[in-house]
Amino acid sequence: CGIVGYVGKQKASAILVEGLKRLEYRGYDSAGIALLENNDIEVMKKTGRVQNVAELIYERDMGSQIGISHTRWATHGEVNDSNAHPHMSWNGKLALVHNGVIENYEGLRRFLEGEGVEFLSETDTEVFANLIAYHYDKEEEGNSVDRLLAAVRHSTTLVEGTYGIAVICTDCPNDIIGARKGSPLCLGVGNGENMIASDVSAFVGRTQNVVYLDDGQIVHISEDDFSISTIGRESVDPVINQIDWKIEQAELGHFTHYMEKEIFEQPTALENSMRGRFSDDDSTAKFGGLNLDPVQWRQIDRILFCACGTTWHACLTAEYLIEKYARIPVEVEYASEFRYRNAPLDKNTLVFVISQSGETLDTLEALREAKRKGYIVLGITNGVGSSIARETDGGIYQHAGPEIGVASTKAFTSQILLSGMLALHLGRMRDLSFGDGREMVAAFRSLPGLVSTVLDQADKIKEIAEKYADFSDFLFLGRQSMFPIALEGALKLKEISYIHAEGYPAGEMKHGPIALISEECPSVILSPHGDTLKKVISNIQETRARKGSVIAITSAGKDFPQDTADEIIHIPQAHDCIMPILATIPLQLLAYYIAVKRGCDVDKPRNLAKSVTVE
Ligand code: G6P
Repeated sequence: CGIVGYVGKQKASAILVEGLKRLEYRGYDSAGIALLENNDIEVMKKTGRVQNVAELIYERDMGSQIGISHTRWATHGEVNDSNAHPHMSWNGKLALVHNGVIENYEGLRRFLEGEGVEFLSETDTEVFANLIAYHYDKEEEGNSVDRLLAAVRHSTTLVEGTYGIAVICTDCPNDIIGARKGSPLCLGVGNGENMIASDVSAFVGRTQNVVYLDDGQIVHISEDDFSISTIGRESVDPVINQIDWKIEQAELGHFTHYMEKEIFEQPTALENSMRGRFSDDDSTAKFGGLNLDPVQWRQIDRILFCACGTTWHACLTAEYLIEKYARIPVEVEYASEFRYRNAPLDKNTLVFVISQSGETLDTLEALREAKRKGYIVLGITNGVGSSIARETDGGIYQHAGPEIGVASTKAFTSQILLSGMLALHLGRMRDLSFGDGREMVAAFRSLPGLVSTVLDQADKIKEIAEKYADFSDFLFLGRQSMFPIALEGALKLKEISYIHAEGYPAGEMKHGPIALISEECPSVILSPHGDTLKKVISNIQETRARKGSVIAITSAGKDFPQDTADEIIHIPQAHDCIMPILATIPLQLLAYYIAVKRGCDVDKPRNLAKSVTVE
């Protein structure tokens, strides 16, 4: 879900709608806004996209200069207008927007009902709103802002679960209070205006100054002031950071969808991810943010990666790359599994979490669990200043630029690139020779150009996509480091076109999935040059013998004759360390064009959210 709050001299409604649209990728089941004017709060909310509520808001045309708003990804309660945020307290005193889940809301609700409080919805958020309003009434000391702050503080000690909230109150016409625990919240410091939001994209463009809140902090903003304190009443010295990207980078430009734009941005994103990260003699990679000393690096005898979704596939690819080039055993866990599994870890295990957003709660909790056990936890993230960036002991920023499309593309290839560079860095401290290191660096450097040559085939891939868009099942197969890419190809297709697709190691096909093959189920088979090519060609033959069409993606050139598959997409023959990235590009394009052909909402696929900040 996404939160935006604004207080300043401008009309709040337009700024909030703009902010919500920029946060829409966090959830788009419903959206709402609460505006404060003349000691009265007006709430407008609607299911569906932000645009739906925007129409209501523009009709009312309120001049209010303060308000809070929310775009929802439903967790508790179905998607309907009354479950949408903001929620008003029963007495009409305050409105609240909330990300996260309040686990003990039923007990709190019973208590409040016993006190005569009435409820309109079934949601945990309404309980939170009423709890604050109830304590606000009970507070006696100080002015109304002091009382509101005290009530928020008190209520946060009573709720269990996670929250990022923003609150306005009819008695405080120039103030918004925010608080966070487990759900991100940051403060945009403007000129004569201030904003709070779930992430910076809500206000980048109005201001580049951001303060990232930590868990357990409460923020108070007014038109020209702000202060941060802890739930325990200690005041916090704010650190103002500069947002390192510009609003234009989040604009669609001449593209139809963000996903399309982000696919085509990959040469630049990859260039930015590697910039300044090779040694002067081009024989190894260096990362300023990985602050282990050489002795610590050498002691590592196992690496554990944790992540979710597409990023988990990047971790699986990292496993192949690191084991191959650095000879360190790697294990990959779903973050949501690791957190509750109490996996035995060796004292020399290094834990790595990877997250595009840096805010995925499953991954954040896995990180915390590993730290609790005393492990060094490093991270790879695209989210500068994100919770994961702040809580890891060190890490690598992706610098891939903002990724808006819900289905991850450029962030994924950037994660693989950085994992490959990490493999090189680790390998050069072990058995990888100077010459091998130089070859890998040369390969990484050539990547943006090679990716461009694959992108040049977009029209051809589009034609293939349109031909296959009506199938309802697909298999994706690959061996070795192409296996995680097959998984990712299947996931991309599933996510944005709702076609059932499964990824398998090509060799596993005959052990089960082969039962699915028929003329109704095409396969996308990754067939790079190298050791396993002959085996993959056998898999293709097995598939075609059962009338399954094959779309092959190959770098094998003349070793892959034209009649081997029904459709062939050629990718460049390059060093093994970059082949997974080159093979990903056609899969992204294939999924994209199929989804477009099927009329799907590519950037906002149903039920998904880009950044999932609940467990
Ligand atoms: C969500 C998104 C996925 C994404 C995953 C991990 O589930 O829908 O596309 O891969 O989160 O996101 P992260 O930001 O941690 O990489």
